[in-house]
Amino acid sequence: MNQAIKIKENIYWIGVNDRRTRLFENYWPLPKGVAYNSYLIVDEKVVVVDTIERNKMEDYVENIASLLNGRKVDYVIINHMEPDHTGALKNLIRRYPEATIIGNAKTFPILKHFYNMEDRLMEVKEGTTLEIGQHTLAFYMAPMLHWPETMVTFEASEGILFSGDIFGAFGTLDGGIFDDEVDLDYLEEEISRYYSNIIGKFGQPAQLALKKLVNLPIRMICSTHGPIRRSYINDIIAKYDAWSKYETAKGVVIAFSSMYGNTEAMADGVARYLAEKGIKKIRIHDTSKTHPSYIINDIFRFRGVILGSCAYNTGIFPTMETLLHELEEIGIKNHLLGYFGEKSWSGGAIRRFDLFAANIKWEVVHPFHEAWGVPKRSDHEVCREIAYTMADKLNALYPDEG
Ligand code: FEO
Repeated sequence: MNQAIKIKENIYWIGVNDRRTRLFENYWPLPKGVAYNSYLIVDEKVVVVDTIERNKMEDYVENIASLLNGRKVDYVIINHMEPDHTGALKNLIRRYPEATIIGNAKTFPILKHFYNMEDRLMEVKEGTTLEIGQHTLAFYMAPMLHWPETMVTFEASEGILFSGDIFGAFGTLDGGIFDDEVDLDYLEEEISRYYSNIIGKFGQPAQLALKKLVNLPIRMICSTHGPIRRSYINDIIAKYDAWSKYETAKGVVIAFSSMYGNTEAMADGVARYLAEKGIKKIRIHDTSKTHPSYIINDIFRFRGVILGSCAYNTGIFPTMETLLHELEEIGIKNHLLGYFGEKSWSGGAIRRFDLFAANIKWEVVHPFHEAWGVPKRSDHEVCREIAYTMADKLNALYPDEG
């Protein structure tokens, strides 16, 4: 059953939970599901702000019709064209063909090519306002958060920012929809994993958007995913500010790929040597078992990254290749890097790590090392040097952190 939950007088959350989709964008795991948030403003004009993914669109449109009790939708605002927010658009317009679709100059070409929709469009620009009765809506561009056409809508009388993907999160809304109604600790990983993997590539656009948005008198943030913010607004804005500046804490992420346990043994050794030097926040991930989105999320948290991989044929192990590709694609900045490899007969991992280091431009703390077969005492000694150098640098950079 779809729900309509009043968030302010005449303003409703009309979103849905999706617990069936296993992979968001057919790539990112959704162990806690995801919510597609949509909003309805009932004033002299009736406005829908963002729609939902197509898998629940029929119930969604029925829900709106039941709420409106015979009234029509006048406007549909598309803050973001991605189909998780426009999947229900065509159905909605079929039900309310007189509705005007609001977007900006970059919205409408995408709208045409995704849905072949070109009629009853209203283009807004930076700062355009729209009176709908007691409420006035203003539109601000937020390009690349998370597509080029992205914009936000601000409702001035209640101070509501309809922020699209910005400030969003993975995870369904299980009863509570406001930040003070849900278990934010339970959702924390999904909030940061959403940022780091979906928005994380766009740190600079996020900084530009934040500088603009913090000037608005925001009293509520209604994102298209995750809880509505009304009690912890500054908290999520501060997190976005830190994440988009690539601020990190003292700690090391060790990601390894290992077929027969030899590279894993070196990873364990590196972790022990880091601990000997006082590094407590150590996160070890096996790339064969952990989706890159979780490893990337930890890399957004911690300054140090140490990677280890066996060779596979004449290259690097496939799941490490996937991780390196994702990191290069997102272009995370401001980390310290160490790496090591293990060869059976050809080698190849180190060549790829060298290329990765050149592409990502992180500071490499120590020359690489490649073991042959089972790591020997001399191999472990080099791993210790890599770990000690990393730890020394972190201890110097974060003298007050444990
Ligand atoms: Fe939630 Fe970029 O779509």
